[in-house]
Amino acid sequence: MDGKLVPWDDAQVHVLTHGLHYGYAVFEGIRCHRTERGSAVFRLEEHLTRFLESARIYRMKMPFDLAALRRATLDLIAANRVPEAYLRPIAFSGYGQMGLDPTQSPICVAIGMWEWGAYLGADGVERGVRATVSSWVRMDSRSLPPQAKCAANYANSALAKMEAVSGGYDEAILLNSAGVVAEGPGENIFRVKHGIVSTPPASSGILRGITRDSVIRFLMDEGLEFRRNDFTREELFTSDELFYTGTAAGITPIREVDGRPIGTGTYPITKRLQARYEDAIHARTPQYEGWLTFGT
Ligand SMILES: Cc1ncc(COP(=O)(O)O)c(C=O)c1O
Repeated sequence: MDGKLVPWDDAQVHVLTHGLHYGYAVFEGIRCHRTERGSAVFRLEEHLTRFLESARIYRMKMPFDLAALRRATLDLIAANRVPEAYLRPIAFSGYGQMGLDPTQSPICVAIGMWEWGAYLGADGVERGVRATVSSWVRMDSRSLPPQAKCAANYANSALAKMEAVSGGYDEAILLNSAGVVAEGPGENIFRVKHGIVSTPPASSGILRGITRDSVIRFLMDEGLEFRRNDFTREELFTSDELFYTGTAAGITPIREVDGRPIGTGTYPITKRLQARYEDAIHARTPQYEGWLTFGT
């Protein structure tokens, strides 16, 4: 927290923390994994770059640079001696002056970490999850820029997630204000039809996922045809395969959307991508080792 290692129970903030009231906070979700050469962080550089870019979009003066954040992340992993975990860097307007203008409060930076299994469950990764198209529309860059990972965006995500869960589904799919598919509340989405894989482009109002980017690389390396293009709600229903991607969710197949089973339920392409991803994060593929940062 703010440059110091702090015991879990002491990592507290004041109830009048500015960002808690007005959502002025940017964050990241990163994972480290156990490998034969110790703990390895997956795409640390890209996550920290996105963290700094989120702060720039919000004119937030980040008190630490990329090198300091990288060092802090590795020190935290080493201090906790937990090789396989989820890491959550966050920068927020702290305790200072209440009222909307965040520039009157200090920017606090913290990184937390904890052991966290697959976000949509190990069973979901294996057998697929049941999704529903949300009645909530994904906010767009005229209101809240989706490419900044800002805490405020997740109020929109929480509405969609709660609606999905209370309707008996595992996860939501959000359409954007043009009515085409954007993403999940905390995941990007991919579609497979006739062997061609597609995902909505950045201009659809999505977070540019780092797992999404990794999957695009896997598709190239698999020699599969890939397109960044919009697809509609009805094209979800007629897909051969659908899957979510995200640091928390990994690569999770979608087995059903609003009561319609997707494809044959075997997900051959999704399974190939999952295998590549598992090998990459656990340092079993030399060609993807450039994505890993090992502790020192
Ligand atoms: C809204 C949203 N979309 C997509 C993603 C996936 O991004 P990544 O693969 O970088 O974790 C996330 C998770 O961070 C997210 O919160």
